[in-house]
Amino acid sequence: METEVKKITASETRKLRQLILRPHQRAEELIYEDDEHPDTVHFGAFIGNELEGIASLYKHIPDGIEVKDSWRLRGMATSEKFRGRGLGLLLMNRCIEHSKKMNGKIFWCNARTTAEGFYEKFGLKRIGEVFTPEGLGEHIVMIKKL
Ligand SMILES: CC(C)(COP(=O)(O)OP(=O)(O)OC[C@H]1O[C@@H](n2cnc3c(N)ncnc32)[C@H](O)[C@@H]1OP(=O)(O)O)[C@@H](O)C(=O)NCCC(=O)NCCS
Repeated sequence: METEVKKITASETRKLRQLILRPHQRAEELIYEDDEHPDTVHFGAFIGNELEGIASLYKHIPDGIEVKDSWRLRGMATSEKFRGRGLGLLLMNRCIEHSKKMNGKIFWCNARTTAEGFYEKFGLKRIGEVFTPEGLGEHIVMIKKL
């Protein structure tokens, strides 16, 4: 079946956000800051007509880095059923490509430590200490210059 990455709406991200990333949270907590901001884009990876992966991109500046043209990845997830099949790769490439197209200088995310190796494949590097947002496990800031 055909695999493709398309822009989706913020509300379309919420089902997978909840299922994969935040099963313990209520619907309103799945709305992230600036989800509806005009700079923000949400991408979906489809297999046939089914949405099986999501990633969102915000024009946000990381703490301690004074670079205005910074793009933040959030809500990156692929369905368990389709892991290891290249959907994450397609979504990441699309997000990095979009950030470059917008003349972004920095691409970054708060990464789960379990996903560090995934992000390293795209040239992101860990900065700073491990931190643990409530209920979400250990995280690190990861960053790449574009
Ligand atoms: C992390 C995640 C998005 C990866 O998606 P995926 O669709 O499995 O990724 P792909 O199949 O495109 O994998 C691309 C490459 O990354 C590697 N990879 C995938 N997940 C990895 C991980 N957690 N750690 C290290 N490498 C990983 C794959 O082996 C593959 O490597 P290869 O190109 O050498 O074969 C997915 O595992 C996921 O949704 N995890 C749960 C939610 C999560 O942790 N999201 C990140 C929040 S910060």
